[in-house]
Amino acid sequence: MASLELASRERVVADMVATADGRAAVDGRSVALGHPEDRALLRELRAAADAILVGTGTLAAERYASLLDDEARKRRVAEGRPPHPLVVTISRRLDLPIAAAPIFSEADVPILAFTESDAGAPPVAADLEVVRLPAPLSLMAVLAALRARGVKGVLCEGGPSLLRRLIAEDLLDDLCLTVAPLLAAGGAPSILEGDVLPEVPRLHLRDVHRADDHLFLHYGLRP
Ligand SMILES: NC(=O)c1ccc[n+]([C@@H]2O[C@H](COP(=O)([O-])OP(=O)(O)OC[C@H]3O[C@@H](n4cnc5c(N)ncnc54)[C@H](OP(=O)(O)O)[C@@H]3O)[C@@H](O)[C@H]2O)c1
Repeated sequence: MASLELASRERVVADMVATADGRAAVDGRSVALGHPEDRALLRELRAAADAILVGTGTLAAERYASLLDDEARKRRVAEGRPPHPLVVTISRRLDLPIAAAPIFSEADVPILAFTESDAGAPPVAADLEVVRLPAPLSLMAVLAALRARGVKGVLCEGGPSLLRRLIAEDLLDDLCLTVAPLLAAGGAPSILEGDVLPEVPRLHLRDVHRADDHLFLHYGLRP
């Protein structure tokens, strides 16, 4: 059933990093977990994506800004694509982290915010569009709206709450997980946060790559 649905919908890939004890953040951010190859993979995935789906918690915590460099933008234009992928976020009450995330001040970045709220779009320098969907807001409805705009490839950059919802709605196709050679403990989230999933998905290991002490795992969620 899922594979039939996949044939008629966009591909959704998530890229996440965790410590060896499964924490997705140290001191509230993931930056300490990275590796140059991990950052290079993220740049490639961003350049290839039609849309980048990211939660408001992550936009704020990671102070989102400057997702694509000039070279990646030029490459996209040469391929006949828009210079920048759509940046897509969801917020039921349209509570956008405008002060915390500099991306809202980048004039040439198209941002779509899906909401249940009737609130208007706040004034920002970015090209922000607010799309109202019926409550309860579902990622299935968000992806259907993106599909109607021609989106075929979606990169989900988390965070853990948004990614859990994507998996709970059976909408994730691939998970790129970097395991950082760190142990953190404490109360940091895992790569998925929230209630136990209604069905526990089985992952299929597609590829493994090592760079120094970092491990790169590519899982598929479909056989
Ligand atoms: N290691 C990694 O790879 C990685 C990647 C990303 C983030 N992180 C870390 O993760 C943390 C942030 O993650 P987070 O889980 O707090 O936030 P998040 O997943 O980035 O954002 C939560 C999103 O889910 C929405 N949401 C929550 N409940 C919902 C529902 N029932 N229906 C529809 N939408 C719903 C929220 O909007 P509303 O509540 O406004 O509706 C919000 O957009 C930070 O520490 C960040 O550093 C780590």
